[in-house]
Amino acid sequence: MFFLDSANMSEIDLILSRGLVSGITTNPTILMKENPDNPLEHLTNIVKKIREYGKNIPLSVQVMTENTQFMIDEAKYLQDYLDYDNLVIKIPIGWDELKVIYELSKQNISVNCTCCMTEIQVSLAANAGADYASIFYGKTSDSGIDPKILVKNSVKYLNNSKTSCKLIVGSLRTDWVITEIIRENADIVTVPAKFFKSLVSNDKTKEAISLFAENYPKKDWL
Ligand code: E4P
Repeated sequence: MFFLDSANMSEIDLILSRGLVSGITTNPTILMKENPDNPLEHLTNIVKKIREYGKNIPLSVQVMTENTQFMIDEAKYLQDYLDYDNLVIKIPIGWDELKVIYELSKQNISVNCTCCMTEIQVSLAANAGADYASIFYGKTSDSGIDPKILVKNSVKYLNNSKTSCKLIVGSLRTDWVITEIIRENADIVTVPAKFFKSLVSNDKTKEAISLFAENYPKKDWL
């Protein structure tokens, strides 16, 4: 399953108009690039855009406080402000953050535990009640860890965890890793918009289409 990793309105439009994704993930960096003065207003526009397409897909929004005492209040504030059924609150993995995740899950607030770099972090997030755990493929690879093994083990751990937590793989640097990730049976890959177009393009496909075109009738059909 694909999610879109973007907060850019025209990218969201391009991807939703093709029905390509079952969810959207944002993060503070990409959100602040779009509207540094009023990120909440920007999120409201994203919600509007999703509704314009008649969708109610999960939208991940990260808390912007580092203080775990304020995270629950911020999560509830976002819920009230955005008034969107399928809002998913992103909480970075951490010791005190696990308590926040547990509290939010008890209050039926959906959580995406983000910034996981190890399969153990994924398991802990799932046990604490996260609905999604996000691993960062590119960032783990940057630090010299084989990200494919991380995906494989995270899938295995979650399958054995008796939780319904789903694995999201994000932080992608190239489009070709997406196939690699899907082959490892990750539940969700969250993809930057620019990669969708390159993923659909294939030289052999082009060749096959042009072979058919040679046999098209010389006059228009319609
Ligand atoms: C995923 O949910 C994150 O938003 C994102 O993929 C982080 O990627 P980065 O490594 O490009 O910051």
